[in-house]
Amino acid sequence: MTDLNPSMRPHSAEYFGEERDYYWNSDYLDLLAKRLDLASVTSAADIGCGVGHWSALLYPRFASNASIVGIDREQEHIDGFMQRMQGIVWNIAAASTVRADATCLPLPNDSFDLATCQTVLLHLQYPAAALTEMMRITRPGGLVLCAEPNNMIARMPFDSLMDIVPIEQLLRLSELVWRHSLGRARRGRGTEHIGEQLPGLFHELGFEHVQVWLSDKAMPMIPPYTSAAERAAVQAWDRWRIQGTGPFDKGEMRANVLAGGGSEEFFDAAWSDFLTHDREVAEARSSSRLSTAGGVLFYIVAGRVPEKPPIL
Ligand SMILES: C[S@@+](CC[C@H](N)C(=O)[O-])C[C@H]1O[C@@H](n2cnc3c(N)ncnc32)[C@H](O)[C@@H]1O
Repeated sequence: MTDLNPSMRPHSAEYFGEERDYYWNSDYLDLLAKRLDLASVTSAADIGCGVGHWSALLYPRFASNASIVGIDREQEHIDGFMQRMQGIVWNIAAASTVRADATCLPLPNDSFDLATCQTVLLHLQYPAAALTEMMRITRPGGLVLCAEPNNMIARMPFDSLMDIVPIEQLLRLSELVWRHSLGRARRGRGTEHIGEQLPGLFHELGFEHVQVWLSDKAMPMIPPYTSAAERAAVQAWDRWRIQGTGPFDKGEMRANVLAGGGSEEFFDAAWSDFLTHDREVAEARSSSRLSTAGGVLFYIVAGRVPEKPPIL
């Protein structure tokens, strides 16, 4: 079984914009590192490493001589990972990469103190298979650490326009999100609310000391929207709109909604609501009427690898 689904478009670089630099509060990561004793980690694997945003944040919190392996199915991302990590690791040989599928890792058993991933499992048809691999490559007593969201919440309109948008439109937008998410999972594109499922998955797979936290990062939009994080968020949204990617990928949304049990008529009406809301948001922003507390339900789920039965 592999998640290298050839019909799936590669996770392209349009998701690696500046907005990814504002996912975490750094003092929160310090707290997480303390809770999980990341300072004792000497070897780590970052599954679905992308261009290294997650590794770059975690690595400075590891033991000073730690090594890290970035694993991704896209060569372009692996190159980006090496580039980013070269400026961060203590020794040039401490960072390496493997091009592989998350559900079939060409790495030996019990070879890492830590296997981790950020915003990867939500893209996989078989997240349990990836977790099983993470467990296999981690030594007994080692840590598997996943940072995964519930992106459904982020797709719901919770901004200051909520009070003036007709309730029928809000309901249709919510139904759009539900049908899209259900259909996306049914089409094997992954589960957008995977963060909610992870604690149960960790339990089923036999992890010990399963712990669950939420990131404390809000992403407020407050006029005049001049912070670097606000500008990056607006730029990402504009980029997706112009490119027709992410939430603006109409073809993908339609296919998901239909697979989620919605009709063509429903999709057309809800898509029109979505574009209308997007226009209203942009107008409200340009006249400084938009505000929101923002943020994503971003879960951190950690578990220890149990002693494994001897291989006979
Ligand atoms: C949203 S990006 C996250 C990247 C990185 N973890 C970060 O937080 O910046 C998802 C990454 O997972 C990789 N990916 C998706 N499916 C994969 C699979 N089946 N096996 C390995 N990598 C995969 C993509 O190529 C992409 O780099």
